[in-house]
Amino acid sequence: MPSESKTYVLTGGFSGIGLAILTHLLTPKHPDTPPPTIHVLDLASTPPTLPATLSTSTIHFYPSTNVTSRAGISAIFDRIFSQSPQIDGLINSAGICPPPTIGGIESDELFDRVLDVNLRGTWIVGTEFLKHVLNKDAAAAGGKTEAAGRGGVHARAAIVNIASTAAISPPPGMVAYATSKYAVLGLTKAWAKEYTPRGVRVNCVAPGGHTDASAPMGRLAAPEEIASVVGFLLEGGAGFVSGQMVVVDGGYYL
Ligand SMILES: NC(=O)c1ccc[n+]([C@@H]2O[C@H](COP(=O)([O-])OP(=O)(O)OC[C@H]3O[C@@H](n4cnc5c(N)ncnc54)[C@H](O)[C@@H]3O)[C@@H](O)[C@H]2O)c1
Repeated sequence: MPSESKTYVLTGGFSGIGLAILTHLLTPKHPDTPPPTIHVLDLASTPPTLPATLSTSTIHFYPSTNVTSRAGISAIFDRIFSQSPQIDGLINSAGICPPPTIGGIESDELFDRVLDVNLRGTWIVGTEFLKHVLNKDAAAAGGKTEAAGRGGVHARAAIVNIASTAAISPPPGMVAYATSKYAVLGLTKAWAKEYTPRGVRVNCVAPGGHTDASAPMGRLAAPEEIASVVGFLLEGGAGFVSGQMVVVDGGYYL
């Protein structure tokens, strides 16, 4: 039986890991599954070109969108929810990673900029998403429940934040970046504690910060491999996982 089409919001989807996530989500997993609707927000002005084999009719691009602007993101979420009243997930992949400052102290300007995009951007997009999902939750109280009959919490939506192994193993000269990603991990845990009981699972994925040679399994994960972990946490497979950080550089941290 064909399953319902899902709707996701993705930041930073015009390049790198975000683009790999977009491609992964669009790649059909089963012939009966309709393609998801994906709203892709990015600061860049030109949307990416996707492989011709993928159906792109369900993608909505929002170029020149800055995740650090509360007013801008709020207006976009109003547009998104007017088109797609049911949103199943958010992936926060937009981020910046300036080159290391070796042997010096990073400037205040750099610290503010990195924290602004990586942490505050995740906060702004996440809170706009939560506002709409939780409002809808309240409006629909007594409505359909995915966990009905099993005594659990109604599954509403999932958030996946992209952190970094820098959060737990800071590379040299990247204090601001490592701090921002440690904070993304903290935000993930706090949101999970707050909102999982209301049906919103929140996890983060930490791509590698090692050099290839020192990665525990000898190489870093490719963007496609990171994307498949994100997809697992977002889509049905991880229906009971929340508040976790998954490290994907070929190793593990305990
Ligand atoms: N590539 C890695 O090795 C690696 C490792 C660990 C973590 N990460 C994290 O993964 C995420 C993606 O990184 P990537 O390597 O794919 O980088 P990337 O530069 O290829 O992609 C980042 C995207 O975010 C967008 N972006 C930047 N600032 C933005 C803003 N203010 N508002 C909206 N969009 C903005 C960019 O335009 C770009 O399309 C980041 O959060 C990064 O910190 C990457």
